[in-house]
Amino acid sequence: MKCVIAAGGLGTRLQNFRDNRSTKILLEVNGTPMINHQIKQLNNWGFENFVIITNPEFSSIIQDVVLGSFSNFDIGFSIQDEPKGISHALQQAENLVKNEKLLFVLGDNFFENNPFKGFDLNEFQSGAFIFTKIVENPQEFGVAEMDHDGNVISIEEKPDMPKSNDAVVGAYMFDESVFEKISILQPSKRGEYEITDLCNLYVNEKNCKNFSIDGWWIDAGTPERIIELEQKLG
Ligand code: DAU
Repeated sequence: MKCVIAAGGLGTRLQNFRDNRSTKILLEVNGTPMINHQIKQLNNWGFENFVIITNPEFSSIIQDVVLGSFSNFDIGFSIQDEPKGISHALQQAENLVKNEKLLFVLGDNFFENNPFKGFDLNEFQSGAFIFTKIVENPQEFGVAEMDHDGNVISIEEKPDMPKSNDAVVGAYMFDESVFEKISILQPSKRGEYEITDLCNLYVNEKNCKNFSIDGWWIDAGTPERIIELEQKLG
């Protein structure tokens, strides 16, 4: 299965952290650029075939950094001209992903354990799968509500009044209809094509399932969380 990595965006919350003037995904985590940690993580989970979405300013340096370390993997790159949201980032992979199911991962998300452990990818026939983790600060993430069978009933992006403590982590599996669905999305109030809105199109079709993950999960989008990630990775 192909794995699309969202590595665009501006990383504004990390500008100037350790004199960072580039993009979050190139920030060094324990001496290795975050994007290379991400590819290593995904390869440990069994993936070898990647499409990386970058922003225009840093696309060639990201390519150099990645290909310098992983020349043996099948890696394609696509540029997102403007950071118009996470679903918009995924849309940039359309020409490199041919009518197949895919894993979509947010480049700054790291996990203690493989979320796919015990999961037979061949059983994934259609729809979407999301993964959640119980957190104390759900209002900082997408928040999912589930029924007793793990079917997702709703997902809200950074709600003021979260319906649960189940934060949606940055790993999603989508079937072949994903690009058709992205094409009908409208920008949210903050002007972005939201990943949450894309997932909700699957929820409306009653075809979005959730798996709760175990072990730690870090969305390394702030200085504090980068430091925490470095400690966890050791
Ligand atoms: O970490 C999980 C959370 O990630 C989810 O719970 C939220 O539902 C989801 O919206 C997202 O929230 P964040 O605020 O953490 O997203 P962020 O803007 O940090 O973007 C995540 C990654 O996606 C980051 O590595 C940059 C990339 N990205 C982001 C945008 C907005 C792009 O490649 N293009 C974009 O336009």
